[in-house]
Amino acid sequence: NRHLISAGDLAKDDALLILDTAEELARVSERSIKKLPTLRGRTVVNLFFEDSTRTRISFEAAAKRLSADVINFSAKGSSVSKGESLKDTALTLEAMGADAVVIRHSASGAPYRLATWVHGSVVNAGDGTHEHPTQALLDAFSMRRRLGSLEGRKVTIVGDVLHSRVARSNVLLLHTLGAEVTLVAPPTLLPVSVGAWPCEVSYDLDAVLPKSDAVMMLRVQKERMNAAYFPSEREYSRRYGLDRDRFAKLPDDAIVMHPGPMNRGMEIAAEVADSARSTIVEQVANGVTIRMAVLYLLLGGETA
Ligand code: CP
Repeated sequence: NRHLISAGDLAKDDALLILDTAEELARVSERSIKKLPTLRGRTVVNLFFEDSTRTRISFEAAAKRLSADVINFSAKGSSVSKGESLKDTALTLEAMGADAVVIRHSASGAPYRLATWVHGSVVNAGDGTHEHPTQALLDAFSMRRRLGSLEGRKVTIVGDVLHSRVARSNVLLLHTLGAEVTLVAPPTLLPVSVGAWPCEVSYDLDAVLPKSDAVMMLRVQKERMNAAYFPSEREYSRRYGLDRDRFAKLPDDAIVMHPGPMNRGMEIAAEVADSARSTIVEQVANGVTIRMAVLYLLLGGETA
């Protein structure tokens, strides 16, 4: 593939190639080799129309560690505020020689539109409520490092699935990799299409936790939410939050994940987020490695 827009586009071999390439790159970093010459002379544009901490910084770090030139574009402070369209913004960046455009946008599907306008590779860094494929890849990489093969592993994804591009990308990728995913959410925070997703659905977190190898808590996305969807913070936390008592129901070797940013005290208790079984900080570090692998395979090495 020339682009990475949906986790659903990755066949099992494609996904394993990215994970294995990331594993090789992690080994190189562990040998204190901080920078590789692989993408010297290539230009990566980070095109962010929505806020980001982890994804934007990790794509920048990944591109720089591969010696690419990086242009960071944030819609805030740009000519987007004067009404310039996505297409004209993209064509402007194209004229500056972008080999890859990493895009985050509030509109689901924006990366597909972008791919029709630019010649370089398009990487989806999160589009609306649709997908966030590199997040799913770094999550799978983090799980594989802690748990081994994902074949037959039971992964529980909990919370605001309705607004979560992370959940959709994870369900698609984890299914491809042979894991069994269960979504747990209030009925009002599940998309109507969930019946067609390759996963189970439950409303009873306490029943699912003891059978989980990994539990992934999702951020409650208040900024995308209409009050009608949502019980109350206290009610949500009581039924769907991962507090100390629920954490104790997990098997001893199960891991706790969260893509960040977290609402500490709501979907996850601070002491659970900071526990030794939490992979939250590892997920961020692994994000750089996975994004290096994706850029390397799209721009420099074998085709993913
Ligand atoms: N997980 C994630 O996408 O975080 P950011 O919004 O900070 O990039």
